[in-house]
Amino acid sequence: MKYTLLAKDKNSDARCGVLTTNHGNIETPIFMPVGTVGTVKAVHARELKEDIKAQIILGNTYHLYLRPGTEVLEEAGGLHKFNSWDRPILTDSGGFQVFSLGDCRKITEEGVVFRSHIDGSKHLFTPENVMDIQRKIGADIIMAFDECPPGQSEYGYAKNSLELTQRWLERCVKRFDSTEPLYGYHQSLFPIVQGCTFRDLREKAAEHAVSLDREGYAIGGLAVGEEAEVMYEMIQVVNRILPQDKPRYLMGVGTPENILEAISLGVDMFDCVMPTRNGRNGMLFTTEGVINIKNKKWEKDFSRIDPAGLSFVDDDYSKAYLRHLIKADEILGLQICSIHNLSFYLWLVREARKHILEGDFVTWKESTIKKVTRRL
Ligand code: GUN
Repeated sequence: MKYTLLAKDKNSDARCGVLTTNHGNIETPIFMPVGTVGTVKAVHARELKEDIKAQIILGNTYHLYLRPGTEVLEEAGGLHKFNSWDRPILTDSGGFQVFSLGDCRKITEEGVVFRSHIDGSKHLFTPENVMDIQRKIGADIIMAFDECPPGQSEYGYAKNSLELTQRWLERCVKRFDSTEPLYGYHQSLFPIVQGCTFRDLREKAAEHAVSLDREGYAIGGLAVGEEAEVMYEMIQVVNRILPQDKPRYLMGVGTPENILEAISLGVDMFDCVMPTRNGRNGMLFTTEGVINIKNKKWEKDFSRIDPAGLSFVDDDYSKAYLRHLIKADEILGLQICSIHNLSFYLWLVREARKHILEGDFVTWKESTIKKVTRRL
């Protein structure tokens, strides 16, 4: 995998580049639609590619390991063959998912024992087996196994947690470097920088990750309950240390505003369930502002979903019809909302990239945030 930095903004830390993988190029900054169980919910691979213009999607080790399981994925020849997505895939390590299981998990030095949310069965994730599982899933970019502590953790907890994540990271690197890809294409391991909301811990975490000399780095443990300003400060602290010539991925973020601010701080890659999950609840992100399509206000509004026409659903369907579908619990409603919102997120990062190249990113960002965050 190779990252080529193409341009840097003069008035911020925003950058744009190209990430080259064996499954194709990714133009950064980029948003990665979330496909937890190997499918971006309610969206065909063809729509993802041709209409939404997704360049890379995300999968989750925790879910894919439990179902369909690594045996099926290995026999299929990896996730790309299994789900018909032939562009790049990134898998999260399961760290974040097992920690959201609350009482159903126990952390030790060895790893995490957890209970399946499907049938209650007991499992163990270790840095080593999480590397092996991600080798078998076959993602182009795989994530280190980490602990993601709560946003409001105290210093003592955050420090101990970070030290555990660092020991786990070293074990991940050792296992990853002593194993080979199974399907003939390259895989990259990204460390995850933790450290909660403490500058010194974030600095230590970033320096440690950089010392392991990987092909890219992720920033985790953010957007977990802290103020947005604190999140931006932590990104800044970490990005000062991460190398310029490697991609930086901010995990699980966020709103359109969060994404544009993080791009201005030098982040290259994003993922978030918001466009799909909120979309399935009738919340639409548009170039004119945010819409709750369930509101009576749209009952007889026959205008397009988004006048900017970000994908075919904007051209083909009206707000009134989409409202009717969502109110009637029709499957097509979920499909339209998902396709529209993902098209919006991919449009947002494409526009950001264009304005970084054109040199007016900061003024574009300010006016775009004003427009797209309005409540309609
Ligand atoms: N997704 C969002 N935040 C995180 C994080 O801190 N760690 C992992 N593994 N995944 C995440």
